[in-house]
Amino acid sequence: MLSRVLGRKCSTSNALRSFQVYRYNPQDGKSPHLQDYKVDTSNCVMMLDVLLEIKNKHDSSLTFRRSCREGVCGSCAMNINGKNCLACLTKVGRDEDGIASTVVLPLPHMFVIKDLVVDMTHFYQQYKSIEPWLKTKHQKEDGQREFLQSKEERAKLDGMWECILCACCNTSCPSYWWNTPTFPGPAILLQAYKMIADSRDDFAKERMEALRGEMKIGRCHTIRNCSNTCPKGLNPAEKILQIKGMLG
Ligand code: SF4
Ligand code: SF4
Ligand code: FES
Repeated sequence: MLSRVLGRKCSTSNALRSFQVYRYNPQDGKSPHLQDYKVDTSNCVMMLDVLLEIKNKHDSSLTFRRSCREGVCGSCAMNINGKNCLACLTKVGRDEDGIASTVVLPLPHMFVIKDLVVDMTHFYQQYKSIEPWLKTKHQKEDGQREFLQSKEERAKLDGMWECILCACCNTSCPSYWWNTPTFPGPAILLQAYKMIADSRDDFAKERMEALRGEMKIGRCHTIRNCSNTCPKGLNPAEKILQIKGMLG
């Protein structure tokens, strides 16, 4: 009945699928390893459904982040069959897609806290470093309650405000892997550009100068892994090029 409601085929042989999931628990003394689960996916549309099925019916110790289950919070970012993605927006692979087994790993080149949960502390510190809040140099006029924007000024933020800070792009970027201490990575550079492009902010010049440097924005070599992986369809590589163009 459920498969009819969801409008998809459901055959028992195709529904039972194999998932190899990264397991690591710093408290059990075991090395990180892949654990194989055979899961009945007849009620699973997205990969997050599969992980919940494993946790609820196979192994309650499996640990992963999730909240909104609709691509808004960014917490279920992970690497599935070699691609960084959001588990809640990634469909379960089927035989007809040529996918026999699915490998689920944490985001690459991040410290793992447990299973699929990575340490986002440095990423958030880098985000904080760009001061992602509006700053002005002038006071509001008498009676003014808000700093207003025209529709055209607001439109300049399109392609940036949609970023959910999932870190799929940063963790797919080779430059970020090797230069994590200094290179902010595509997500943070895109967020910095959002502040630079916002007509309500008076610190565009200072914000730009803060990004200048061979070990900062200069570490981007326009490989575009970031734009290829963004689950929200954003193009951070293009924004980085625009910042570079403005810096001259
Ligand atoms: S640009 Fe895309 S991939 Fe990168 S953090 Fe934002 S939403 Fe995630
Ligand atoms: S375009 Fe720049 S930021 Fe994006 S993956 Fe390549 S090096 Fe990293
Ligand atoms: S659970 Fe929120 S983006 Fe996937």
